[in-house]
Order: sequence, then C-alpha cells, then structure tokens
Amino acid sequence: MEINFNELLSKKKVILAPMAGITSFSYRKFMNKFNPALTYTEMISDCGLIYGNKKTFEMLQTDGSDRPLGIQLFGGKKETILKAIEILENLPIEYDVLDINLACPVNKVVKSNGGSTWLKDQDALFDLMSEVVKKSKKPVSAKIRLGYNEINVNETVQTLERAGVQFIMIHARTRKDLYHGKARYEELSKVRDLIKIPFGISGDIYTPFDAINALKITRADAVLVARGGVGNPLLISNINHLLNNEELEETNFNKQFEYFKEYKSLLVKEKGEKIATSILKGIAPKFFLNLKEDSKEVRKRLVAAQNISDFDKIIEEFINESNLSKINGEV
Ligand SMILES: Cc1cc2nc3c(=O)[nH]c(=O)nc-3n(C[C@H](O)[C@H](O)[C@H](O)COP(=O)(O)O)c2cc1C
Repeated sequence: MEINFNELLSKKKVILAPMAGITSFSYRKFMNKFNPALTYTEMISDCGLIYGNKKTFEMLQTDGSDRPLGIQLFGGKKETILKAIEILENLPIEYDVLDINLACPVNKVVKSNGGSTWLKDQDALFDLMSEVVKKSKKPVSAKIRLGYNEINVNETVQTLERAGVQFIMIHARTRKDLYHGKARYEELSKVRDLIKIPFGISGDIYTPFDAINALKITRADAVLVARGGVGNPLLISNINHLLNNEELEETNFNKQFEYFKEYKSLLVKEKGEKIATSILKGIAPKFFLNLKEDSKEVRKRLVAAQNISDFDKIIEEFINESNLSKINGEV
C-alpha cells in the first residue's frame, strides 16, 4: 500500500536519518525495532547504479524488516537520476519512498553538481524534481539544507511542493556550515506557513527534549534521528514516549551491551567480520556513552579492537574488572 505521509506522521514522529557509512541494512533493521516512522538508506549514487557498481548495488540490501523504507539517490544530472530510478524500479526490492539527496555538502559530491548544489538554482531544482515525481512509482521525498551558502530554505520548500514532492526533510544548517555549529531551527519558523505538505527537521537531536524543542520551534511534522541515535537506539522510542507523555525508558551498561551485541551480529552477517570490525571501531564506544556507570576506560579500549571477537572480550573484561555485573544484575 502506498504511504500517506500525513497519516504515517500522525502516529509516529521520528525518522531514521540517512547516514552514509552507517545506515546500511543491518543498522536499519536493528533501529527499526525502536519504532521510527520510516528508515532511509545511505545515499546511493545514480551513476553507481547505471555503471553496475557492485558496492552500490550492495547498498540496496533489505529483507523488508526495515520498512517503511526510503531509498535515497544522489546525482548531479537530471538524466542520470531519472535513469537510476528506472534501474531501481526494475529491481526486486521492496521499498516505500524514493528520496533525492539535495543536502550533501562534501566536495566530491558537490564537484559533480550533486547534493546541496541543487539548492543554488531553483529553476533547475523544479525541473529535476517535477521529472523525478513524474517518473517515480513511489512517493517522493527530498532532503535539503537551509541553503548552499546563503539561506533560501523558504523558497526551496515551495519549489519542492510545486514539483509534487510529498515530504521534505530539512537539515537546519547550510552547506557552508557542514556539520559544525548549532542547528538553526529558528530559520525554519516560517516553513509551516509556506507549504501544506509535511516536513521533518534534522540537526543536533541528542535527547528526547532536543526533539520536542525543535518540533516546537519549527512546528514540523517529524524529527530526524542521526548522530544522536548511533549507539543510543532508545532515543527513537523515548522521543515517542515523551511526545505521548509516557515514562522514558532508562538504560544501563548491560542493556547497552545487549544492544551492541545485537547490532554487531547483524552487521557481521551483512558485511563480514573484517569490514564490520572497522565500522564498529568507530561505533562501539558510542554504545557506552553518557551512562551512569563510568565507562570511559572501556570506550578507550574498544577503539583498539583488532578483530570481531575482541569487542565482546574487551567489554566482558571491563565488566569483570569493575564489577559492573553486580551493580546491574547478570549480563
Ligand atoms: C556520517 C554521516 C553521514 C551522513 N550521510 C548522509 C546521507 O547519506 N544522506 C543524507 O541526506 N544525509 C546524510 N547525513 C546527514 C544526516 O542525515 C543529518 O541530517 C545530519 O547529521 C544532522 O543531524 P545530527 O546533527 O542530528 O546528526 C550524514 C551525516 C553524518 C554525520
């Protein structure tokens, strides 16, 4: 059944943001248990699909447990984006939303006119997105920023709505800001009055209270969980709890260890031990951040893991040394 964004977002307000190098199939499958409205793939290169790049096709892996699922494409030319949509639609993949990345700030993407470059020229943007909407059999969403160098988000959201886009996700920074400085929600205070379609907001969502605050300032329909959710999956369910005036779920070291093991096992299945190890060196410490227990030492040790079995060994050793098992009950 085709997704109706208004209906979907009236029930759930948290979206798992697309993140290159992170939101692959295993991450989406793991995080989907915490009840986001929608998950998104990493950004997928239109030319990668056109030239049959193996790694690009691997990024499309799903078994349906991460649905509702949005597939995000990026590219610098209308023709190649349209061709990639055709390829995508001929694959036996079940997904719910097609997203176009109009937000990526990195040089490699911007140099070939992709990502946030599209925000510079509203005519070209309208031309691209109206053709994408015509071509796509799925509802289309778009991910944008406040602007490229200058802020033009109020104009961009109207261009996208006119083109037939059904949902807009806005990272409250410009291309120039990259990922630095505070997300500027106050720049989005007019968006609600300018468009009828729903929009979601992104930037600096680390606690349920950040989400409520951002939703209040912007009157947005949804909030995106990105960096703040890495290693902290309860962020998604706790935002929903807070919105529903329900009690927040607490975590502790042992619970985080269980979450980590679950994600690790999915990641190994997806990527194999070698690649999983290198991804987890960056992510594993984040599972043990901001806990009541002093976990600084284990985070330091996890970065040095050499192979996949090292992670559990390091954590178990730390538990034994610090007697955490007594504090938290059995592991
Ligand atoms: C490592 C990393 C990779 C990202 N990759 C993508 C991507 O592929 N597509 C996209 O639209 N946004 C991407 N983003 C942006 C996030 O979706 C999000 O908008 C941004 O991180 C701001 O939210 P935060 O401050 O809560 O992390 C990425 C961000 C990070 C940190």
